[in-house]
Parts: sequence; C-alpha cells; structure tokens
Amino acid sequence: KPYVVIMAGGIGSRFWPYSRYNRPKQFLDILGTGRTLLQMTYDRFVKLSDKSRFYVITYKKYYKLVEEQLPDIPKDQILIEPLRRNTATCVAYASYRILKKHPSAKVIVTPADHLIIQEGNFYSTMAIAIEAADQDDRLITLGIRPNRPETGYGYIQYISNHGNPVKKVKTFTEKPNVKLAKAFIESGDFVWNSGMFVWKVKSIVKAFENYMPDISEVFEEGMVHYNKPQEEAFIKKAYSLVKNISIDYGIMEKADEVYTVLGEFGWSDLGSWFSLHEIQNRDENNNVVEANAILYDTKNSFIKVSPQKLVVVEGLDNYLINESENVLLICKLDGEKKFREFVNDAKKKG
Ligand code: GDD
Ligand code: MG
Repeated sequence: KPYVVIMAGGIGSRFWPYSRYNRPKQFLDILGTGRTLLQMTYDRFVKLSDKSRFYVITYKKYYKLVEEQLPDIPKDQILIEPLRRNTATCVAYASYRILKKHPSAKVIVTPADHLIIQEGNFYSTMAIAIEAADQDDRLITLGIRPNRPETGYGYIQYISNHGNPVKKVKTFTEKPNVKLAKAFIESGDFVWNSGMFVWKVKSIVKAFENYMPDISEVFEEGMVHYNKPQEEAFIKKAYSLVKNISIDYGIMEKADEVYTVLGEFGWSDLGSWFSLHEIQNRDENNNVVEANAILYDTKNSFIKVSPQKLVVVEGLDNYLINESENVLLICKLDGEKKFREFVNDAKKKG
C-alpha cells in the first residue's frame, strides 16, 4: 500500500474572503457535503492506503485544524512547517521523513483541495500510476485533458506511445502566460498537471539531489540523525535556509524522468471562485446563487451572501458577490490575478 502525503498548508487566497488566513479553503466545507476539502481528500485516499500511512504537512498555524479534522491520523504524522516555503520544501520535508522510516515506500503526494467526481476512474488511474512508479526513478504525475487556457496550472507535453496510458513527458511548463496557454490548448498535445504525484520515496530524494541540491543538502544532513525533539529545531533552521519555490518549478520542469498517466475522473481544482462556479448547480442564467437573492438581468455570476440579508442585483454579468464575516467583495468572477492584491490591500486597511 502506498504512503500518502497531503499538502495542506496553502492559504487559498483566490477564494478570499470566504477562505481566510485563519481558515483557508482546505479546512472549509466548500461544497456543502458536511466534509471539508481536506476531509474529502483523506476519505478518497484512505481507500487505497491505510490511516497509518498518511502524512499531512501544514503550516504551524493550521496544525490544530488538521488535528481536529483528521483525528485518525497519528499525531506524529502531522508535519508542522514553521514558515511557508512552498511545495518543494514541503515535499522534501515529508519525503526525508518517510525515507528514514520506510526507505522502500511508494508515495502519493496530493493537494488538499481538489474535487474528483468519478472515483472509480480515479482509482483505476491511480493503480496504473502506482505500478508505473516501480520502474527506474520515474516521477509520475496524473495528467488531465484541458478545456480552457487556464494560466494557473502546469502544462505537460508528452511523447505519444500508441495507447499506453503511461507517457513520457517531453516538456513541463508551470503556469504559462495566456498566449502560451492558448497555443498549448490549440496544439492539442498538452495536458494539465493535476498536482497529484506518485513516486518511490527514493526516486524523489534522488531528484532533489539532482535538481535542487541546496534543498537535499540541508535535509540530508539534519533528517538522517534526528530524534523527535531535535527534528523541530532542525526544521526551523532548515526552513529559514531554503528558497520559496514550488515542486513544479523546482523539479517537474527540470527532471528527465517525468511521466504522466492520463486520467478522466471528473477532476476539478477548486482553486478559485471561477472554478467552483463551473462545478456548482447554476440557474437558467448560469448564476450560482447561495443567498436569499432577487436577480434581474444577471448572468454568469456567483452570489454567496449570508441568508440573513436579502440581496437585490441588477444588470451584472460575470461578477462575484461574496460576503464573508466582515468583508463584502464585489469583483469580476474571472479576475483571479487580482486576488493577491485584494488580500494585501485589505490587510493594510485592517
Ligand atoms: N504544507 C504546505 N506548505 N502546503 C502547501 C504550501 C506550503 O508551503 N503551499 C501550497 N500548499 C498546498 C496547497 O494547500 C495545495 O493543497 C497544494 O499544496 C498545491 O498548492 P497550490 O498553491 O494550490 O498550487 P497551484 O494550484 O498554484 O498549482 C499546482 O496545482 C495545479 C493543479 O491544481 C501545480 O502543481 C500546478 O502544476 C497544477 O496544475
Ligand atoms: Mg491549487
């Protein structure tokens, strides 16, 4: 059975103000299912692994939330990050920790905030990926057929091989600009990186040695000799030394041994209001309405306001209206790039 590492330390700013620094989206029941995105991720993966094989890695501020939401995971396997250093560091920490205890482990690394609708197809795709990870030092990512020139994803060009679902990756381009993304989509040769990875722990450690030696040097030294109290001190130091860079830029774009397994399983990265809008129930004018609302001449919009308020809207197209706690946000629904700015400027206002 594979080990599973859930990366749950992002702050989800593209879901602001619903997703807040104190409680980012992975800790929210965004879909109204009674389970948060993190819990849904756990539920999905526990079926192909075992609770004793889970690691959740998160920023220290969210440790309590993880502990509360996933009581089945051994406490020692909730890894705490003292600083936010992005996913390369996060994967390195988890990998070196697993390497020490279980050097022959195979590991699935997954985000905490995805939606997968066709679980049957998902498990069969995973089974192929897990098997494929046996060979050589393959780094495997699940690939998704794209349907729009989204700039928030990684794009994979693979070498076609007559129907074998395991494909060698030719190029990996993380978060291209719009022009490039459009060209990729038009060429038809590209798939999205789902952000879910499968590899032997030894393979990813080797990749850190080859492509991010500054990270591997830091972790190799400290993690090999740690005991628990020492680990905390070591990690604090290690995190202050390493760069802030994602696994996609740090390893996937550079490595030669990257493969993709294509899957069709109703995948959606609930990365933004726009992507949530795509998968929620919509009215006849393509609006998602989670509010007590009266709409006139309004379409393609997302309105989520607490039910105590009556919302009356006229003449909007492609807008988001969200009231969460003390913030009311009204903006273009597809303006993802702006959210970082919103969050920063709102912080200054206090
Ligand atoms: N522990 C920890 N620490 N987790 C983190 C950190 C960190 O510093 N930064 C991000 N995460 C978690 C997020 O909570 C999320 O679950 C996951 O790691 C991925 O990070 P995102 O910030 O959501 O990445 P992205 O969506 O911009 O891009 C990635 O996912 C896309 C698909 O959803 C990339 O892998 C892209 O290539 C991919 O297409
Ligand atoms: Mg994401």
